[in-house]
Amino acid sequence: MVRDAPLAVNGGAAVRDRGRSWPSWPVAAPGASSALEAVLRSGSWAISSPYRGELQERRFAKAFAAYTGTRHCVPTDHGSSALVIAMESLGLDYGDPVLVPALTWTASASAVFRAGLVPVLADVDPATGCLAAEAVAAETDIAAVIAVHWACNMADVPAIAKAADGVHVIEDAAQAHGGRWEGRPAGSLGTMGCFSMQHSKVLTCGEGGAIVTDDPERAGLLEELRADSRRYRDSLVEGELPLTESATTLGANFCLDEFGASLLVAQLEILDEQHTVRNANYELLTRLLAPVTGVKLLTRSPSQDKLSLYEVPLVFEGFPEGIDKSWAATALTAELGVRVYTPRPPLARSRLLEPWRKSTLAPLAEQFVKRHADRAYPGADHLAAHAVLLHHSVFLGGEEDMADIAAAAAKVARHLEEGATR
Ligand SMILES: Cc1ncc(COP(=O)(O)O)c(C=O)c1O
Repeated sequence: MVRDAPLAVNGGAAVRDRGRSWPSWPVAAPGASSALEAVLRSGSWAISSPYRGELQERRFAKAFAAYTGTRHCVPTDHGSSALVIAMESLGLDYGDPVLVPALTWTASASAVFRAGLVPVLADVDPATGCLAAEAVAAETDIAAVIAVHWACNMADVPAIAKAADGVHVIEDAAQAHGGRWEGRPAGSLGTMGCFSMQHSKVLTCGEGGAIVTDDPERAGLLEELRADSRRYRDSLVEGELPLTESATTLGANFCLDEFGASLLVAQLEILDEQHTVRNANYELLTRLLAPVTGVKLLTRSPSQDKLSLYEVPLVFEGFPEGIDKSWAATALTAELGVRVYTPRPPLARSRLLEPWRKSTLAPLAEQFVKRHADRAYPGADHLAAHAVLLHHSVFLGGEEDMADIAAAAAKVARHLEEGATR
């Protein structure tokens, strides 16, 4: 006997009145239009154009280094390029193995291939969604580790670095701008921190990225790796090119343009206000969901003292035969009138990570296949099978929005428990 109203997906009344909208994304900062307009009129649209006064890319680099508590920031055109040149800057040998968590966006691993290395996939802790130090300690021949801060949780980089025993740990902080671990900002805990500023991220200019590091020599090398072997001159002269052909390594062009940089300077101004709203809403949702059975949030480490929500997973306890997470995502979307979606499969089964499809990667692809023949990912499989995701923009609303999410999650969980899904 079903105690509840029928689910919206089955024709029942939805938890949320269709007349009420959700916050949209992206949110343009107050200074965004004038910043873009200024670049348009400046006559300098790229760092490779003749110098015409202060470069927005330099402004953003300075501001983002300060935001992440690091000494240097090298902006890039994408988060994946940031990962590629971070890997290249390590000076590893062709085919060296790099540990990557199995539950992340494909770029965390495809960037490793692009740098001539082999990603080795490791399981994640199903409670947190992140790589755990134990999984790192179990590896014997790893040349570097990519620690991904996933969804809304940060990986324990200090513990991972200890377990990695001298091997470089690169933070993939594409989903974690502004998060803090024991007071230290995401991106500042490893050898380098890589960020994405793609449209869906909390700090965005459409497509963009950045690397932060405390090491000045590495920062110079990263500049060359992302600007066709060129780095900034010591002093910039009006009408002359800002980059000089220093050529200590072979680079490629991964430069962020001046429009993107100016937008990021403006958007950074509102990032912490947005974090405050999202995080207060998340705390409220945590309280509202605490008494609900059958669905929960990810476990949060007490060491993570500031959240940066990218996606918020709602993790269901289980599904009856014939029902899966896609059904739960559809049912929640119908209750809430906002897109609730499913995590992608772990990378070991991802159609987006098939290196054998590119002939130039053949030797690396062969190693990749061999290394993964007998590896298992029960933690990543469990989470990918039981979670559905909400985008961070949903958390830019208010208390009523959180009440709706909690009510919808509870309604769907009760129907699952009662086997009343049709
Ligand atoms: C964890 C992670 N790493 C890397 C990237 C790649 O960033 P981009 O799309 O800017 O290349 C993303 C983007 O979604 C990501 O989520």
